[in-house]
Amino acid sequence: MQNFQLYKETSTTTDKSYNRKDWQGGYQSVTEEFDYWIDDIEGEIPPELNGTLFRNGPGLLDINGHKIHHPFDGDGMISRISFINGRAHFRNRFVRTEAYVEEQKAKKILYRGVFGTQKPGGWLANIFDFKLKNIANTNVIYWGGKLLALWEAAEPHQLDARTLETLGKEYFDGVLSGGEAFAAHPRFDPSCEQDNGAPCLVNFSIKPGLSTTITIFELDTTGKIVRKSANSVPGFAFIHDFAITPNYCIFFQNPVSFNPIPFALGMRGAGECIKFQPNQPTKVIVIPRQSPQKFIEEGGNPKGVKIMEMQSGFVFHHANAFEKDNEIVIDSICYEDLPQVEPESDFRETDFDAIKPGQLWRFHLNLEDSTVSSQLIESRCCEFPCVHPQKVGRNYRYLYMGAADAASGNAPLQAFEKVDLETGTKQVWSAAPHGFASEPIFVPRSRHGDEDDGWVLGLIYDSTHHRSDVVILDAKDLNQAPIAKLHLKHHIPYGLHGNFVREVFIDS
Ligand code: CO
Repeated sequence: MQNFQLYKETSTTTDKSYNRKDWQGGYQSVTEEFDYWIDDIEGEIPPELNGTLFRNGPGLLDINGHKIHHPFDGDGMISRISFINGRAHFRNRFVRTEAYVEEQKAKKILYRGVFGTQKPGGWLANIFDFKLKNIANTNVIYWGGKLLALWEAAEPHQLDARTLETLGKEYFDGVLSGGEAFAAHPRFDPSCEQDNGAPCLVNFSIKPGLSTTITIFELDTTGKIVRKSANSVPGFAFIHDFAITPNYCIFFQNPVSFNPIPFALGMRGAGECIKFQPNQPTKVIVIPRQSPQKFIEEGGNPKGVKIMEMQSGFVFHHANAFEKDNEIVIDSICYEDLPQVEPESDFRETDFDAIKPGQLWRFHLNLEDSTVSSQLIESRCCEFPCVHPQKVGRNYRYLYMGAADAASGNAPLQAFEKVDLETGTKQVWSAAPHGFASEPIFVPRSRHGDEDDGWVLGLIYDSTHHRSDVVILDAKDLNQAPIAKLHLKHHIPYGLHGNFVREVFIDS
């Protein structure tokens, strides 16, 4: 009997869709900057797929051999894949932030990271050092003719889209002040009423404290900040992402507490001082995009900031939101619990089974009585949702995300999943056992096709060859093998976010 049980345990372990050693390979630094035409291709790049995929993420997981404590503390590296007439070109470059340049020169860690990276020398070397590194590693957008690398706690860095050279920090004609935050999760409103139907970019910044200031920025197509409003909400807030509809911005204020003392004393990173509070509710903050005055002028009731409460949970990313009758519907990846980042832990040794998976939920926010109802849409472990760019803030049918290979339990992302929200049908393409996935990006084939007429582009880390592949999937049928797999000459460490634009940038 005992033998049988032992056998069973062993077999459960080997039944996993991945092994940790393979997964760890995607967390090795890349130090080289490449520039080449991709010629190792399986399948064919659709000739009508023209444009540029920009990705951002931590390129360095160590500084000259000194390991950083968490991937979120890794220096931002932009990868660019340019598609033109059935061919593809690759280039990557590190964002030359002040800290990157200084640390590369010194060949050692000079700055504390938010997620626990400390300067060598123990707490004495870190005490009362509140200078943080703007690592520009979370997202990259092209808007108003500018390529911007974003990190949520400070100003963006502007890059030359053609050469990926760092041009300096971006202050939007002085509307942003020195050190002012500009979040890494802007939303692209495809048709903004206040701009007569032109697209606009909506972003925010968080200034946490005993009460938190949420500032909302709206940028027109020339890249100018045309609307900026500051809103104060009670309590400390750690907010990474938000969602928009034509009339509202929606934020989830996760139930967390912040104790800054261990950070001040040099013992923990600021992010390691955030503690999830499972017995507290999650607060949903709904902020109107138009001023109350505007609502009155249009004959409606003035609408202010609304705060609703719902069950406890932690959300990094929202898929989309839309207005329906007196409700806002919002789809989000929600965690039951948020494990704390510990100073002694090593992220490379993550025990996936000990962590709760992210799952896709739909929330109905009732604007009349401020109640929230929720419904689980997908229990499979998932992250990094994306939708058709024309459907942002609108009722929509399809969403795409990174997902685990197995339908239950927690595991690294190895697959891309499509969910049909109308029929409940799900499609999955998996790169298991040796491939590991990141954020998918949906690219429409044309302006007038069906909502799922297009491609899903994603980077897969192939642990067998220790290199990354750019995969192109047919969004109509994600169950099928990729249309093309572009083998890069090297790997790209697991990244965070990126965007696809129609403009083609190549400099060679
Ligand atoms: Co994010």
